[in-house]
Amino acid sequence: METKDPPVDGKSYKKFPLASRLVVLACSVICGIYIFSICTEQVGVNTHNRLVDTNVFRRQQCPPPPVEQSELPYLNYPDPQTFNREECACNPVRLFCIVSMQRSGSGWFETFFNSHMNVSSNGEIFSVVNRRENVSSILMTLDKVYNLDWYTSASKNECSAAVGFKWMLNQGLMRHHEEIVRYFERRHVSVIFLFRRNLLRRMVSVLANIYDKDAKLLNGTHKSHVHSAAEANILAKYRPTLNVTLMISELKLTEETTEKALVYFKNIRHIVLYYEDLISNRTKIMDVQEFLRVPYKDLHSHQVRIHTAPLSMQIENWDEVQKALNGTHYQSFLDSD
Ligand SMILES: *[C@@H]1O[C@H](CO)[C@@H](O)[C@H](O)[C@H]1NC(C)=O
Ligand SMILES: *[C@@H]1O[C@H](CO)[C@@H](O)[C@H](O)[C@H]1NC(C)=O
Ligand SMILES: *[C@@H]1O[C@H](CO)[C@@H](O)[C@H](O)[C@H]1NC(C)=O
Ligand SMILES: *[C@@H]1O[C@H](CO)[C@@H](O)[C@H](O)[C@H]1NC(C)=O
Ligand SMILES: *[C@@H]1O[C@H](CO)[C@@H](O)[C@H](O)[C@H]1NC(C)=O
Ligand SMILES: *[C@@H]1O[C@H](CO)[C@@H](O)[C@H](O)[C@H]1NC(C)=O
Repeated sequence: METKDPPVDGKSYKKFPLASRLVVLACSVICGIYIFSICTEQVGVNTHNRLVDTNVFRRQQCPPPPVEQSELPYLNYPDPQTFNREECACNPVRLFCIVSMQRSGSGWFETFFNSHMNVSSNGEIFSVVNRRENVSSILMTLDKVYNLDWYTSASKNECSAAVGFKWMLNQGLMRHHEEIVRYFERRHVSVIFLFRRNLLRRMVSVLANIYDKDAKLLNGTHKSHVHSAAEANILAKYRPTLNVTLMISELKLTEETTEKALVYFKNIRHIVLYYEDLISNRTKIMDVQEFLRVPYKDLHSHQVRIHTAPLSMQIENWDEVQKALNGTHYQSFLDSD
């Protein structure tokens, strides 16, 4: 049989001028580089998708969870690098983030929440500056927390059904909100907003806490949260003087920042809680358990509220403050809890 292929011999090469040969050579080099780059990229994608792969794998291996179809994306099956989830490997884990501001009851809320045997809320992890220095260090920290590889006294490890931490608005959350929202969307993190209604009371708490950092009223140690009425009384004895010139603009700034945060994260699954409501209505805490779909438990905290007296007894220049806020949008803060 005759073959139509041209004979391959030394002579046929000579038919191609040097220029053509160089073109072919260049093409193969470019192709080679292209294929190589695709391959390395693939490797990158693979390590990046390891979490997703484990999720898919476990979802196939584990008995189907008794939830609706729309809930499935919120269920994670982490594969921690530091330990084995053992008998709880098939328990799905929900990811959450408590978004709050300093002195808004989030410390109390977190101890309350951590009394649940299946909830791990790992504290204010971004109070450490280098963890929030840039977006990549933020995302790396988030991956570690949500993969259950973050260790604190709150970690429930293998049998966590919900894992998260608390994040203050001024700890990189507002500055890098675009990337963080994208991360929360991708990993289906639920947000628990915890704010305080009475921003004047919050201001008193902020000033008292700053004062105590130096004064150390409790036998020479500074405490932001206390566990007995005696300690609370000692801390509440200090009555800050508010700068009435700055007060209104600060209240306004706090209010605006909160509103902005709610807008940034509006498309993320969330719940908005107020400290005052949680204090006065304990059923509200059930709403949070319902929101995270963790089994209902009776939760408790040993923390004691520091400032319980009427504000008139807690502010040194009360008359001045009262006069400044009278007739403003913030007047209600003067006599509400
Ligand atoms: C981000 O911050 C971390 C921690 O400080 C640092 O090690 C890293 O080099 C920084 N990365 C970039 C891209 O700036
Ligand atoms: C909660 O924790 C307990 C004890 O560690 C475990 O037996 C149970 O399966 C966990 N529940 C969920 C929903 O993960
Ligand atoms: C401070 O010290 C006194 C005397 O040593 C002790 O009676 C008191 O309980 C201590 N108070 C606190 C808040 O630790
Ligand atoms: C209040 O703050 C302003 C601006 O920082 C400052 O100029 C003023 O002296 C302060 N007033 C008092 C009474 O401290
Ligand atoms: C307490 O909270 C629950 C749950 O959010 C709510 O249904 C109820 O109306 C609240 N009760 C009062 C007295 O506000
Ligand atoms: C607040 O303002 C109203 C009128 O604007 C006045 O009657 C009242 O005495 C003021 N209250 C205080 C505490 O300054």
